[in-house]
Amino acid sequence: MTRPPFPTAVIFDLDGVLVDTARFHLAAWRRIADELGFEFDDEVGEALKGVGREAALLVLTRSGGVELDAATAERTAQRKNRYYNESLATLDASAFLPGAEAALGWLHGRGIPIALASASRNARTILVACGIEDRFDAIVDGTSVPLAKPDPAVFLAAAAAIGVDPSEAIVFEDAIAGVDGALRAGCRVIGVGDPAVLLRAELTVPDLTGVDWPALMGRA
Ligand code: G6P
Ligand code: MG
Repeated sequence: MTRPPFPTAVIFDLDGVLVDTARFHLAAWRRIADELGFEFDDEVGEALKGVGREAALLVLTRSGGVELDAATAERTAQRKNRYYNESLATLDASAFLPGAEAALGWLHGRGIPIALASASRNARTILVACGIEDRFDAIVDGTSVPLAKPDPAVFLAAAAAIGVDPSEAIVFEDAIAGVDGALRAGCRVIGVGDPAVLLRAELTVPDLTGVDWPALMGRA
């Protein structure tokens, strides 16, 4: 299938793209590393982004040379989620990252299909807290697709849910795992963050204010 000249749909990652929650995930993982007695390394922090909770714990413990049995790993992942949820308790619309609310409004106003593709099982809580649940034509998260990024499953499910071929969708991602998963799904990808980190994205913007939506989508 030949790619249309402009994307016909947009798929957003949530944490670190639309809302400023990536730092809460990192703070919770840092606390776990402290408890397990090793130092949290910022490079490992990048590798944890976009990765599902249990897989992220494994990446973290390996980085610290620690091995947990299955029961301890499960309890540790639950504890991390408790710490994370403590920081979500006060979350509201002030957590939007720059340009996020305007982007959703612009796309929604033109009837352009919007999907969420997040590895998080807390995604819906966050959307509700920020009052943007109704902006999405489809919400695919860690509760609906167990295979986390870089597996392409979450992006394939998101494209299918809004009725487009993955090649017609443009994905916004702040995680290396997310960029790779979206590319594997056959989507176009714009990185949100540091171009030196998100090397495989076709373009990287510091935040969504850096996107010229009419030019990108071929719409006035
Ligand atoms: C997002 C975040 C990851 C997090 C994952 C699972 O993709 O970028 O840092 O590990 O979701 O989140 P959860 O809220 O289910 O623990
Ligand atoms: Mg993210």
